[in-house]
Amino acid sequence: MITSLAYFGATSPDYKEWESFGPKVLGCELVESGPDGAVRLRIDEMSYRLAIHPGEANGVAYIGWETTGVEDVQQMVERLQAYGIEAKRASAEEAALRKVLGFYWFIDPSGIRHELVWGQMRSNTPFHAGRGMSGFRTGDQGLGHVVLAVPDLEKSDQFYRDVLGFKLSDTVDMPPIYAFFYHVNGRHHSLAIARSPTDKAAFLHLMIEVNTLEDVGIAQDLCLEHNIPITRTLGCHTNDRMISFYLHTPSAFRLEYGWGGLDVDDLWVPRYYDRTSSWGHHHQHPELSPFLPINPVNEQV
Ligand SMILES: [Fe+2]
Repeated sequence: MITSLAYFGATSPDYKEWESFGPKVLGCELVESGPDGAVRLRIDEMSYRLAIHPGEANGVAYIGWETTGVEDVQQMVERLQAYGIEAKRASAEEAALRKVLGFYWFIDPSGIRHELVWGQMRSNTPFHAGRGMSGFRTGDQGLGHVVLAVPDLEKSDQFYRDVLGFKLSDTVDMPPIYAFFYHVNGRHHSLAIARSPTDKAAFLHLMIEVNTLEDVGIAQDLCLEHNIPITRTLGCHTNDRMISFYLHTPSAFRLEYGWGGLDVDDLWVPRYYDRTSSWGHHHQHPELSPFLPINPVNEQV
């Protein structure tokens, strides 16, 4: 069983920029880099949550999911196999790179690499934010959420629900946007998928949540101060009630920086909306595409 979003990995020629962008703008803690030079960032008690690897192109490399343990992962591996997807068990060296006890990885029907992880390593030292702030809301709700554009929405919906066990939180139908949102814990969604306008999958954004609205406002001020493009203005989502803004990171993927997300529970009944936001979230910088390609070199990070 998947319990939360564990970590996120991207590749970028500008990965070094994260050494200052991560702490100074987002408030992350810079920790020891990976053997390939990857910039690693903490946002809580976990040894790290974000890794930006050196690479020729900007792209999403992998999405890591925390699970209830190796036995449950092996059951998921069997379900994947029955579906026609081969999952590979990571070697001890590969697990050590991710700072986990172990993981299996596979490529989903849209070409995205997922990793099913057990035993994510916790740090021996308290989280120390890279700038003055109240900290990030993680814990049982994990790193945050990811939103993907997929070429075959119905096929992916069936895959994420039936094979991986994601539960539907709600549906947004706002032409040309059509999207499903899924939860695996109290966070309203850890994953959302939208219909891709092309025959290719793309990464739309990663969301991280902070503990106070003031932290969101300060991050917005820092983006303005450092000329970091704000791609969607401050606003509030209809479905998870998150007050957030979206920024263009040095690696070209979008990051939603938010506060106040709604909690769901086992009695949650899926809802339906015809708008993504009740106010704000106006699009800016149309020259910066929201569709980041999925890294095709999935085996090399
Ligand atoms: Fe989001």
